[in-house]
Amino acid sequence: MSNNETPQKTTGLHIGKAEPGCKKNDPMLVIDHVKKTFGGLTAVDVEHLEIPKGAITALIGPNGAGKTTLFNLLTGFDSPDTGTWSFLGKSLSGIPSFKVAQMGQVRTFQLTKALSLLTVLDNMKLGAKDQAGESIWKALIPGFWKKQDKDIEVKALELLKRFKLEEKQADFAASLSGGQRKLLEMARALMTDPVLVMLDEPMAGVNPALTQSLLEHVLNLKKDGMTVLFVEHDMHMVRHIADWVVVMAEGKVVAEGPPDVVMKEQAVIDAYLGAHQDTDLGVVTGRIDTINEEKNK
Ligand SMILES: Nc1ncnc2c1ncn2[C@@H]1O[C@H](COP(=O)(O)OP(=O)(O)OP(=O)(O)O)[C@@H](O)[C@H]1O
Ligand SMILES: [Mg+2]
Repeated sequence: MSNNETPQKTTGLHIGKAEPGCKKNDPMLVIDHVKKTFGGLTAVDVEHLEIPKGAITALIGPNGAGKTTLFNLLTGFDSPDTGTWSFLGKSLSGIPSFKVAQMGQVRTFQLTKALSLLTVLDNMKLGAKDQAGESIWKALIPGFWKKQDKDIEVKALELLKRFKLEEKQADFAASLSGGQRKLLEMARALMTDPVLVMLDEPMAGVNPALTQSLLEHVLNLKKDGMTVLFVEHDMHMVRHIADWVVVMAEGKVVAEGPPDVVMKEQAVIDAYLGAHQDTDLGVVTGRIDTINEEKNK
């Protein structure tokens, strides 16, 4: 894809009217009556939500809307008070996070979880081990890896190359920039060949030089056949790459639809988007400057 081209959107995802809880033609995740409270606070209260397969869905909403909590519930990092949900038709209620990952559903964290005092390569290897449900300590004992280790390492290096981190493989993760950590986390999530990749604010804290590359990596996940669900506050990124947008507020799904439609809904603009939602993505990410510089060469 050339730098400023709008990626091809996947359409025809839903059945009937685009409204909260609407059915999808080919849902990957189906969520029913999932509720989570913390003390007196209802963090998540989702009646029905379907995430379409093979598409990029953005989950947006103001701070505290319940986006991260919903991610935690869906991936087994936390358990709801009530509710059920299924992934590719299999119920995931009560399934622990490592098993969820083994089944093909992985997530990254809003605050990156790279282990600072391990090398980039070891972080990648643990991505595979971690999600296989083995303890970090066991995995670090010399000799534990044996034959399996070779395959894991080959795969890790392949991914590091794809994410342009291969030169950093022997460096401690602590030495990476915020953006590189985000890349490492995304690369690590791919160690188990997932079918659904859930990214919690992949662009937060990333400087413009890496924004473009992260954005293309997300698009490439879809190109490679994966389904993506991502939380993001950068509306330009959402508009640019999402095929479908789900809006949450106060724990509930309040709107959903294709980005251009949802972002024009007055309630969504009032609640969340504010005044600057029409600025071009290229300006925000610094890409337009780069493109102009290249043209003037
Ligand atoms: N472990 C917890 N204990 C108590 N309250 C919590 C906990 N986790 C989340 N909350 C509360 O639940 C609500 C939803 O939080 P959550 O982190 O899911 O929001 P979010 O949509 O991800 O917000 P942001 O955009 O700021 O990341 C917030 O009011 C938050 O303070
Ligand atoms: Mg969050």
